[in-house]
Amino acid sequence: MQDPTTPQPDAAERMTRPELADLQLRRLRQTLQHAYDNVPFHRAAFDAAGVRPEDCRTLADLARFPFTTKADLRTHYPWGMFAVERSRLRRLHASSGTTGTPTVVGYTDRDLATWSEVVARSLRAAGARPGDAVHVAYGYGLFTGGLGAHYGAERLGCTVIPASGGMTARQVRLITDLQPQVIMVTPTYMLTLLDEFERQGIDPRSTSLRTGVFGAEPWTQEMRREIEERFAIDAVDIYGLSEVMGPGVAQESVVTKDGPHIWEDHFYPEVVDPVTGEVLPEGAEGELVFTSLTKEAMPVVRYRTRDLTRLLPGTLGPFRRMARITGRCDDMIVLRGVNLFPSQIEELVLTVPGLSPHFQLRLAREGRLDRLTVRVEARPGTASDGRAGAAGELIRRVKEGIGVSVDVEVVEPESLERSVGKLKRIVDERRG
Ligand code: DLL
Repeated sequence: MQDPTTPQPDAAERMTRPELADLQLRRLRQTLQHAYDNVPFHRAAFDAAGVRPEDCRTLADLARFPFTTKADLRTHYPWGMFAVERSRLRRLHASSGTTGTPTVVGYTDRDLATWSEVVARSLRAAGARPGDAVHVAYGYGLFTGGLGAHYGAERLGCTVIPASGGMTARQVRLITDLQPQVIMVTPTYMLTLLDEFERQGIDPRSTSLRTGVFGAEPWTQEMRREIEERFAIDAVDIYGLSEVMGPGVAQESVVTKDGPHIWEDHFYPEVVDPVTGEVLPEGAEGELVFTSLTKEAMPVVRYRTRDLTRLLPGTLGPFRRMARITGRCDDMIVLRGVNLFPSQIEELVLTVPGLSPHFQLRLAREGRLDRLTVRVEARPGTASDGRAGAAGELIRRVKEGIGVSVDVEVVEPESLERSVGKLKRIVDERRG
């Protein structure tokens, strides 16, 4: 008998690939028309490229349309990208703007309903069920993580605990007392929670948690294993970005754990060559680009995410998957001609016994040469000769695996700054 608490797939999830493609094309044409008619930026860009919305007759025709970048959003800050009257905007979110002007995004009533739907679908794919309690430790506020997760979990019929980020001791208390089955948090903040459980003498494997829905920053299979083992939970990947919606653009299934499925009935993905912008075939690695298919307030046309991944065939329902994000173009370190991402270091750190998942990358310049130092905490209880051995081992594995020499400093447990949300891994001390 069907378990009555198991929610059924929704209509889009039951579509065939051709049915989905029909729906996408219809929605794509509407979106291009909506953007052209209501956003002067898009109209000017289409005109300059010599294309009109009606030129999009097949999904492949999208490649003829111009890209939109983060810089475009900054230039048109705050209102220039909106396609509806300001009075129809029901909510705004914004990026922190660490590099200058912030970017702002907005949602109509219908956009908020869509967002809740895709997050509810994400949570269902992650294994959450109506009636589960969901502890949301993504930050609430201008960041899309907290509120996005919140309304999706309510939409699925869960009990939401809106913890937000920070006040780590209190988070542990809430999890212990309120007994949530699901936690939504960045993977690095989950590690901070892990330390706090241990500090309070509570076995992290003994909590009520069953599933963690982790995203907002890159993380690796090795990190998944670490979190799953130390908490005795399933850990799955949720992907999203504010410009396209927020969390819930793509979600990994707890059944297959093979990378996030993209909710393609709302977000149309392409992978392009980051340098030439040429559309790449399925399976090739490049920059992920999204066109929204149903957004009213701020339609995005070929938005360049800067995230590097591959598109893969789906393994559940009609939707394609993306490979786990290897890194952002912005986080790529070029060290003596070798390209390197923090996630590659994470993978290797976690294979060396005696090293914890807490590490930082310091870039410094000596003469004309850049030097990269991996500062990584020893696991508690690792003696000093064990630490020296671990440092040597990591140097060797980085040289062998990535092809570049780095310095490794193994530091005391709990000496590096802990994450409360998205962790900044790279400390750049180079001048000029
Ligand atoms: O981080 C939305 C989000 C919140 C996603 C909570 C998942 C969970 P932004 O602040 O606009 O939005 O940052 C978006 O974060 O372009 C990626 O570089 C990165 N990112 C998000 N999810 C993942 C993930 C939210 N699962 C940027 N894996 C994106 C790797 C991720 N990177």
